[in-house]
Amino acid sequence: MGYGGQFAMGKHHADNVRKTDGLVLKGVFDVDPARRDAAKTEQPDVVVYDTFEALLDSADIELVVLITPHDTHAPLSIAASNAGKHVLTEKVMCLNVAECDAMIAAAKKTGKCLSVYQNRRLDGDYLTVKKQIESGTLGNLFSIESSVNGYWFPAGWRGVKKSGGGMLYDWGAHLTDQLVQLMLPARPVSVYANFHYGGHDVDVETQTTVSIRFDNGVMAQIDVGCVSWLTRPRWLVRGEKAAVLMPDWETCTLRGMLNGSEQQMSIPVEASAWERFYPALSAHLNDGAPLPVDPTEVRIALSVIDAAFESGRTGRSVEIAP
Ligand SMILES: NC(=O)c1ccc[n+]([C@@H]2O[C@H](COP(=O)([O-])OP(=O)(O)OC[C@H]3O[C@@H](n4cnc5c(N)ncnc54)[C@H](O)[C@@H]3O)[C@@H](O)[C@H]2O)c1
Repeated sequence: MGYGGQFAMGKHHADNVRKTDGLVLKGVFDVDPARRDAAKTEQPDVVVYDTFEALLDSADIELVVLITPHDTHAPLSIAASNAGKHVLTEKVMCLNVAECDAMIAAAKKTGKCLSVYQNRRLDGDYLTVKKQIESGTLGNLFSIESSVNGYWFPAGWRGVKKSGGGMLYDWGAHLTDQLVQLMLPARPVSVYANFHYGGHDVDVETQTTVSIRFDNGVMAQIDVGCVSWLTRPRWLVRGEKAAVLMPDWETCTLRGMLNGSEQQMSIPVEASAWERFYPALSAHLNDGAPLPVDPTEVRIALSVIDAAFESGRTGRSVEIAP
């Protein structure tokens, strides 16, 4: 569902389905006839449906993958669940916790799968930081800063508020999810956020900084924007024994008290492993393996996003209910 051209994510998903044992690409639908034509050319052996309803009516379709603008994820997911389909939605899962709960409830009713393509849990930079945290090398962790910034125009629906555009739903969806994964079982308890609107002719925020306090005492900050001429490091993670700095996606420095002396060293950056996602989904659907991404964990990241928007509106810190 959705065969867009901007980042070619429709093609990316189709290619990955084709590569995965236990999954077969059967059909494509896009509301845009030009994108349906592109799908006919690039996926000549599958059905290109003329309507969403025709896709849902087809007994051939068991899993629906949503690669559409953010405001469509909840309604399309609920409709697909109600039609008895498994659902995988692209990030951001949906616009808020209320939509998330409705999606989970709809999937529960039919007992079908609902998962989210949080592929950046398999990014090399994230896996590198995660490994250092989990190894205990950093000691008692107290601060995580995670940033993706640059200067670009948020084109198409990405620059339109009512479509779920804006940096927090876009890159913020990945960064909040990564933080939640790094901190679990700790939970976010309060959020303070600042939104900047400007620099591009759009009605969405172009820069957001979100500070998140976790109940294990860690203070995290994510910083996402498309109006930054210079950028912050991708990661700075600090513990009482050592800290990890990734100025970019490919370089990692570890500095601290290591093996009894003060040291600084380069750390090899892990390889990204997006290709693991679809086999994990197939193993879930065909063999009962755990869900690759549990929507109830993505719900925690959405509670941070909800609180960030409220904080931005009110200028106050917002508590997150347990
Ligand atoms: N996980 C990642 O790394 C990653 C990277 C890029 C994009 N994305 C996500 O993928 C999704 C799509 O982004 P994109 O860059 O492909 O956008 P895009 O604009 O290139 O494509 C979206 C497509 O959806 C179609 N569409 C819109 N409404 C529809 C509907 N109701 N039914 C069917 N089709 C509909 C549009 O016609 C368009 O072809 C978003 O959720 C985005 O955040 C994820």
